Amino acid sequence: MKINSVLAILPALAAAIPSSTKGWSAHSSPKAAYFLRVDPAGSSVVAVEVGSNGMLTDTTASFSTGGVGLQTQNYTNGLKPTAIDPLQSQNAVTIGDRFLFTVNSGSDTLVMFKIDHKDPLKLKMVGKPVPTYGEFPVSVAYSTKHKKACVLNGGATNGVSCYSVSHKHGLVPDGVGLRSFGYNATTPGQLGGYSGSGSDIQFATNSSKLVSTFKGAGTTGLGHIDVFDVDSNGDISKNYTDNQIAPLGGVFGFSWSGSEPGHMFVSDVAFAGSLLSLDFTTNKFTEIATSNSSKFAASCWTVWSPTTDLYYNINAGSPYIGEIDAAGKLENIIEFNSTLAGATDTAVYGATAYMLTFLNVINVMDLQSGKALQMYDYGTEEDRPYWTGMALYPASPLLVGGV
Ligand SMILES: *[C@@H]1O[C@H](CO)[C@@H](O)[C@H](O)[C@H]1NC(C)=O
Ligand SMILES: *[C@@H]1O[C@H](CO)[C@@H](O)[C@H](O)[C@H]1NC(C)=O
Ligand SMILES: *[C@@H]1O[C@H](CO)[C@@H](O)[C@H](O)[C@H]1NC(C)=O
Ligand SMILES: *[C@@H]1O[C@H](CO)[C@@H](O)[C@H](O)[C@H]1NC(C)=O
Ligand SMILES: *[C@@H]1O[C@H](CO)[C@@H](O)[C@H](O)[C@H]1NC(C)=O
Ligand SMILES: *[C@@H]1O[C@H](CO)[C@@H](O)[C@H](O)[C@H]1NC(C)=O
Repeated sequence: MKINSVLAILPALAAAIPSSTKGWSAHSSPKAAYFLRVDPAGSSVVAVEVGSNGMLTDTTASFSTGGVGLQTQNYTNGLKPTAIDPLQSQNAVTIGDRFLFTVNSGSDTLVMFKIDHKDPLKLKMVGKPVPTYGEFPVSVAYSTKHKKACVLNGGATNGVSCYSVSHKHGLVPDGVGLRSFGYNATTPGQLGGYSGSGSDIQFATNSSKLVSTFKGAGTTGLGHIDVFDVDSNGDISKNYTDNQIAPLGGVFGFSWSGSEPGHMFVSDVAFAGSLLSLDFTTNKFTEIATSNSSKFAASCWTVWSPTTDLYYNINAGSPYIGEIDAAGKLENIIEFNSTLAGATDTAVYGATAYMLTFLNVINVMDLQSGKALQMYDYGTEEDRPYWTGMALYPASPLLVGGV
């Protein structure tokens, strides 16, 4: 399905989508970008204003998340915290409607903020952080359609917990508790160790499915993609269908991005990734195509742009972004400033990408031309190991609630 037919199904959203990334206007850019500082002394969300030209401005703000951070340990470095990517995840910060959700990986809590529409640099916590019923929460999904949030616990006690969401009551547990995976993993997760950890959770296919990825590692090998059903009332199934990534073209897996219903590009720690197709009845995936390049290293993150109808695969270990088409073919490789070494969490609005890089620099890129629009310095190099997640307000139309 081409983007045009997606737009035909969603006429109300179509009006909000920028028809071109050339000539920024007040209507074609988000108003703020947010990321999480996973800090053992107390985590916080950093908000950065986005100007009407789409560029990040010097106006920033910081908000306590009411809990502490716990960082992934680097197995090959004496279990010291990793140099980047403290949760080894995608969607540690998630935005939908006027809400921002994020995790306290050391307190095992999920937290919700209300975003002031007139001044998105003002966040207000709604209620208190709520328990995630597991350990080392790393990623959050939100459905605008069902007003539900779900969190992926990625540590030793792993699985998914869900909540209903309201302005008034904040996050209310759905009564199911932890939908346990029982995977052999550690708290916190380890990089390069023997076991994997949770990496990504998102609603999919117009919020009729909830899909999470749990990366594999080392000798335990296989990564998983788990699918939950969401009924028309927005209730999320207690059981799930497990798919192992290895037979689907992958090795360890990492995160995923969706375009048309049922199509998901699943990135892989070891190489670019695979485009998969979901059978809505069996909740099993089949492989459409797998892409790979010797230029890629730690190709863990992926976003889909509604403007270009391409999946993008972002590498932490090299300054390259893979462009993958709707058939799963690696079409092109964008090279960015090699001083930045690599990039991690990325949020896209239209065809503009806001990406955390290996340095304390946020790279704003036009994915259509492959050109950098801005290299934005924030904070200090010493602080960079704490950063993860990247989300925009408003979130890019079509990406909320799961295409
Ligand atoms: C993990 O440790 C190894 C060995 O010291 C180092 O080369 C690598 O850059 C580290 N990775 C991260 C993400 O910290
Ligand atoms: C979990 O993984 C660790 C590390 O590989 C291993 O020592 C342990 O036996 C595993 N436990 C189970 C129950 O498989
Ligand atoms: C998504 O679900 C809503 C409500 O159930 C429905 O009105 C809409 O047509 C669906 N959109 C698509 C693209 O299927
Ligand atoms: C949950 O279990 C029911 C009954 O066995 C099954 O029909 C359904 O497909 C399962 N759902 C998922 C998401 O695995
Ligand atoms: C990807 O490419 C690299 C280097 O070109 C190769 O070592 C690796 O085996 C490939 N992986 C897959 C899954 O094709
Ligand atoms: C590459 O990034 C570095 C670090 O932000 C910056 O100093 C340099 O000017 C950039 N180079 C180009 C060609 O933009």
